[in-house]
Amino acid sequence: MCSYNNIMDLSYELLCILFFIFNINTATCFSKFKTVTQSSGYSDSIFLDSLQLLQSYNYSSEKHVVVTEDGYKLNIFRIPRKGSPVLLVHGIGDSSDSWLVLGPKHSLAYQLADAGFDVWLFNARGNRYCKEHIKNISQKLFWDFSYEEIGSYDLPATVNYILSETRYSKVSYVGFSQGSTTFFVMCSMRPEFNKKINHAILLAPVAWLKHTKYPLIDFFSKSLNILTWIAETQQVYEAFPFNEKLNLYHASVCDTLSPVRMLCELELFVNFGLQKLSNLLPEKLPVITSHIPAGTSSKVFLHFIQGYSTQRFQRYDYGVSKNLEVYSSTFPPVYDVSLVSAPVTLVSSEVDWFSDVEDVSILKRKLNSVAKSVHINGSLQFTHLEFVYGARVNSVINKPVLNILEGLRKK
Ligand SMILES: *[C@@H]1O[C@H](CO)[C@@H](O)[C@H](O)[C@H]1NC(C)=O
Ligand SMILES: *[C@@H]1O[C@H](CO)[C@@H](O)[C@H](O)[C@H]1NC(C)=O
Ligand SMILES: *[C@@H]1O[C@H](CO)[C@@H](O)[C@H](O)[C@H]1NC(C)=O
Repeated sequence: MCSYNNIMDLSYELLCILFFIFNINTATCFSKFKTVTQSSGYSDSIFLDSLQLLQSYNYSSEKHVVVTEDGYKLNIFRIPRKGSPVLLVHGIGDSSDSWLVLGPKHSLAYQLADAGFDVWLFNARGNRYCKEHIKNISQKLFWDFSYEEIGSYDLPATVNYILSETRYSKVSYVGFSQGSTTFFVMCSMRPEFNKKINHAILLAPVAWLKHTKYPLIDFFSKSLNILTWIAETQQVYEAFPFNEKLNLYHASVCDTLSPVRMLCELELFVNFGLQKLSNLLPEKLPVITSHIPAGTSSKVFLHFIQGYSTQRFQRYDYGVSKNLEVYSSTFPPVYDVSLVSAPVTLVSSEVDWFSDVEDVSILKRKLNSVAKSVHINGSLQFTHLEFVYGARVNSVINKPVLNILEGLRKK
């Protein structure tokens, strides 16, 4: 079973992952796997972007360009329908693809469109669809954002754009993981946006990170100073970039016929706690894993790690002297989530490493507008990625989400 070759591949894989984390020459590293792994002839959809995925399933689609107050150009996508608008917001280092890759039988975007909702798919600055700025600014300036700017600039610009295009006064919101963090940032830093949200369904919500079970979090937390130093001085501005070689590598090792499928399993376990590969649809694994990561800034990643280190849901920590300059206080201000007044539904799972139920309880106590809070029973072993990519996503997530949104429509 465990041949010399497998062990060699395994060590090489771990090395590549380390390289990847530190953004060193990953393309060359992962390209080795093109030759060692064979494809079972997985579908070409591993190379399709959001518009092409929609077209491949014969769904009408539109691309819209939203320009933020600070000049970022966001490409967002729409499945136009006559009904009320729903905005789907992806997780960290991910993109609008996350709501589409499983196809109409399992992905939420198509199902909402089939139910008559006007579906809008968000993309945050820095991901594969949002690499442009209206001005010719330096890379250093372009990548100088954390999840705060996504929440305080990108989301407000997108919400305003949708309301002006559709002439509705409110939009419904579905956010996964970082898509909930950015929602809390928007509604607490720019509280006037609360009244523009009909209802927010927050899947695997992330705000406080005191109890996160992600095994590498301690390592990252202890290395925070060096990681920050690397990001700033070594010009490693982008984290988890969209990389075709890496995509191809993922698509091949995650293929049902791959002889080194254990590498796929290992990576999904180490990074997301996935218990068994069959919890993600096996035939869809190549298309899922070839679309993640889609890129974000190193600062977004560091901001989350700071949340774990400080045990506070607060603005980016620059260190005492720059904090004084930016915030006029030695510590960064916390996000005041009590200002969130739009009704929210929280959906978390007892075994999720990133959206820990104790942390969700802290969040729930501080929020004033929780309409409903659901804990998915630990016996289901429902892990983080499964909220969007899971084999059981229809029964555990999509149907309940549709029920909530259809219930609101009847009111
Ligand atoms: C999309 O439409 C074309 C032309 O009508 C058809 O050949 C194809 O099978 C359809 N694809 C899907 C996924 O329904
Ligand atoms: C953008 O700025 C860079 C560096 O200042 C410069 O080299 C480049 O020519 C500029 N590009 C355009 C299109 O103005
Ligand atoms: C979770 O599932 C287990 C096993 O099916 C069951 O015994 C337990 O009562 C459930 N817990 C809740 C809170 O529903």
